[in-house]
Amino acid sequence: MLLQLLTISVVISTGIAEYKNYDGFKILEVNFQNPRVKKYVQEIDKNLGFMPDFLGENWKQKQAHYFIDKDSVEKVRSNLAMNNITYQMRDVNPQLFKVRRKRRDLNGVVTINDVNNRYLSYDEQMQFLNTLSQQYPDDVKLQKLGNSYEGRALTAVRIGDDGSNKPIVWIDAGVHAREWISYNVALYLVYTIVTQPVYRDLLNSVQLIVVPNTNPDGYEYSRTNDRMWRKTRSRFSNSRCGGADANRNYPFFWGTQGVSHHQCSEIYCGSRPQSEPEVLALTNAIQREETRIKGYIALHSYGQEILYPWGHTMHTYPSDVKDLIRVGKAMAKAIKAVNNTDYNVVNSGDGLYPAAGASDDWAKSRGIKYSYTIELSPVDDYTGFVLPEERINQVCREAFQAIQVLMIEVKTMFGIRSVTSSASSAQSSLLLKHMRSTISRGFGRG
Ligand code: ARG
Ligand code: ZN
Repeated sequence: MLLQLLTISVVISTGIAEYKNYDGFKILEVNFQNPRVKKYVQEIDKNLGFMPDFLGENWKQKQAHYFIDKDSVEKVRSNLAMNNITYQMRDVNPQLFKVRRKRRDLNGVVTINDVNNRYLSYDEQMQFLNTLSQQYPDDVKLQKLGNSYEGRALTAVRIGDDGSNKPIVWIDAGVHAREWISYNVALYLVYTIVTQPVYRDLLNSVQLIVVPNTNPDGYEYSRTNDRMWRKTRSRFSNSRCGGADANRNYPFFWGTQGVSHHQCSEIYCGSRPQSEPEVLALTNAIQREETRIKGYIALHSYGQEILYPWGHTMHTYPSDVKDLIRVGKAMAKAIKAVNNTDYNVVNSGDGLYPAAGASDDWAKSRGIKYSYTIELSPVDDYTGFVLPEERINQVCREAFQAIQVLMIEVKTMFGIRSVTSSASSAQSSLLLKHMRSTISRGFGRG
């Protein structure tokens, strides 16, 4: 009896203490319209003496967002006051950090309905993909790229892989654990492109590889322990802090700007390039077929931005930056056509901070022509990473259109059958017409 009581109380107390508590933490918003303030923000780590956790920026309001831990609030306030910076500090909406797990469908099968309506566990994501690959064995091939630090499979979904030499578009999602919407977007993409016959023709000319969860350890940790977890879950014997920012761990200008070499930092770049098994698996996989990969998108949130290289430093662009901007704008336009949502197309280094060792720069450096990071919705920090589940489907439909634009561009530029073939450009315009008519209707809902 006593033992029973004890077990029950342990279960209850861990149940309550489980999720990291952010009481007393604040969200700091600084409007950087004014150049003097922008300079302060760009050097905020020097000004404060530490780098606060950067959440994102609202480009519409030119506002930078940071997450300030409760022990730093006073210090930050006085530094801002001393520097004559006007700012808003607001409480974190505690509702946002409540773990909310909707019940699964009664039959236990994960369907597109789940993808559209709730955030799934890693196991559910894999179950969804397994089911799809069983239903569409010719179109959906699952490939294991390696294991995460804690031993979860890193899975790539190969779509339209018929053994030919078609150009490839590579999409990966969720390298930052707390950016939950990215996983749903990747799964929605896989489902929609495979199940809608209208994309057959596109898949005949372009192969798609999607890695829907590039950081499964971090994601699970953010679901069960700490909603704001960003990094991997690797552990270091000499430190109380674990994890590295996998998007600072790629081997291109590694460790130079916009990174930290301190293990406790949210932007810790790791002990060396590719120190994280997730990054090593992804770079190996991409390098195996890099001559065929013509498009690359890393899905992140938040901010509603389409970012193009270079991002490791400021004011530095690849020689074909015009093409990157042109296709970036076409993607933004396709997104806007869905529900009038604005995405901003900008260079990733020219914003508030450059960041070296990110996947988009590395992909570009390997010769992948169209390489982007997309910061998905929202744009505001009130919801931020905690995008309400009611909004999942729309974000998925928007991002899908952007990815389709990239695929069509890759088909046009690199497709084997499409070079100057009038038949295939007629097909592309058919597809464009179809895009317009389905945009308002949407796929896969319900
Ligand atoms: N929010 C992303 C990050 O901090 C942006 C990365 C953009 N790319 C870049 N090379 N800076 O990882
Ligand atoms: Zn991110």
